[in-house]
Amino acid sequence: MKVLVLHGPNLNMLGQREPDTYGAQTLEQIDEMITEAAWDLDIEVEIVQSNHEGELVEAIHQALGSADVIIINPAAYTHTSVAIRDALAAVGLPAIEVHLTNIHAREQFRRRSLTAPVCHGQICGFGGWGYVLALHAAREIVEEEAS
Ligand code: DQA
Repeated sequence: MKVLVLHGPNLNMLGQREPDTYGAQTLEQIDEMITEAAWDLDIEVEIVQSNHEGELVEAIHQALGSADVIIINPAAYTHTSVAIRDALAAVGLPAIEVHLTNIHAREQFRRRSLTAPVCHGQICGFGGWGYVLALHAAREIVEEEAS
């Protein structure tokens, strides 16, 4: 079983980016957590970060035929990107949207996600642990599909 983890724009700045909101954890530390959890769950994981909408769209396209589940934090594109939403819908793979913060408890413009409606579900507000929770959910989804 393989999972593609996609991190959107500005997530490479974690650790120094608005630490009161996003915490002190760097993306590298989060990726280590993801890699360790994936190992424990016997999941092969590929992790991509991009600040560019088109690159995220292309990474989603490339997941078709190579990954079973996409875990995506589209970051700011969550609230703006019809292109990422359409890419997720086009490939049709089960996707799990993750946000470090609880976007529903923040500014009004963050409460709307264009991407969540084409995802299996959304996990938000758990910091880096959200990705680990998403890996567990990914395993459940694949096992359910196989049964
Ligand atoms: C975020 C929430 C978004 O609103 C914001 O633009 C981000 C990070 C999160 O993980 O909490 O960059 O996706």
